Amino acid sequence: MWALITGASSGIGMEAARIFAKNGYNLFLVARRSERLEGLKLELGTSVEVVTAPLDLSMAENIDELFLRVEELDIDIDVLVNNAGVGEYGEFMNSDIEKQIKIIDLNVKTLTHIARVLGDKMKKRGCGTIVNVASTAAFQAVPYMAVYGATKSYVLSFSLALSAELEESGVTVVAFCPGATKTEFQEVGSLKTSKFRGKLLGSETVAKLLYKAAHGNRRLVVTGVYNKLLVFSSRLMPRYFIAKLVKKSYEA
Ligand SMILES: NC(=O)c1ccc[n+]([C@@H]2O[C@H](COP(=O)([O-])OP(=O)(O)OC[C@H]3O[C@@H](n4cnc5c(N)ncnc54)[C@H](OP(=O)(O)O)[C@@H]3O)[C@@H](O)[C@H]2O)c1
Repeated sequence: MWALITGASSGIGMEAARIFAKNGYNLFLVARRSERLEGLKLELGTSVEVVTAPLDLSMAENIDELFLRVEELDIDIDVLVNNAGVGEYGEFMNSDIEKQIKIIDLNVKTLTHIARVLGDKMKKRGCGTIVNVASTAAFQAVPYMAVYGATKSYVLSFSLALSAELEESGVTVVAFCPGATKTEFQEVGSLKTSKFRGKLLGSETVAKLLYKAAHGNRRLVVTGVYNKLLVFSSRLMPRYFIAKLVKKSYEA
């Protein structure tokens, strides 16, 4: 059994790699930082096969390179964890548009492209699982992380639609929606964690939930009771009202 995990060099992806390995999965790990991937290969490579692909997935040509490497190995990917993702905190009008577009490229275009190519192979084999990592940010607008929130709404919508399309195919698609999780995400996206203190789950806990989600029956998984409540209550209020509430809580 093979699991391909994008964004495996830190946070949720790295912990997911450890859990999949513990459960006997061979690993195909992708991220930019090769030294991190090699470290993980040293750590896990004694018990399972580990292949690393240090690639910047925000660049279209590297996605083709990824498919080529999978093809060359002649392996079937049983579980795809489409996890690599970035966000950036700040007012959209003051943002670096190149950075914002790269967020869309990675969180939306790359995730879609990988799901299309590897998902098609799964469909032809009649089995496989795709876990697309969205976020609780998918359920409402996120002022000061406007583009990031919108990309995660896309991931949620796309995943549920795909899940329904593939219902009879043997391929399972899960929209996995973590709430605030303690990883490098906050640092990378210049997001202060002070607002979340007490509500942040650890990446190991979230990765365990991801593993469970990949092997369960639910097509939409939100991590943690607090986050489930937030998501549920957000459905009861007007959407713009929620956007303003989120704005208040995200204000610097
Ligand atoms: N942490 C949270 O609070 C939270 C909440 C909800 C959802 N999520 C989602 O969970 C997923 C994982 O995030 P995390 O919290 O684990 O954050 P993280 O620790 O920052 O991990 C992000 C991973 O994505 C990889 N990545 C970033 N840009 C990439 C690129 N251009 N090409 C290839 N890989 C790239 C990073 O590796 P390299 O830098 O080595 O490339 C890293 O392995 C993301 O989709 C995120 O949106 C996180």
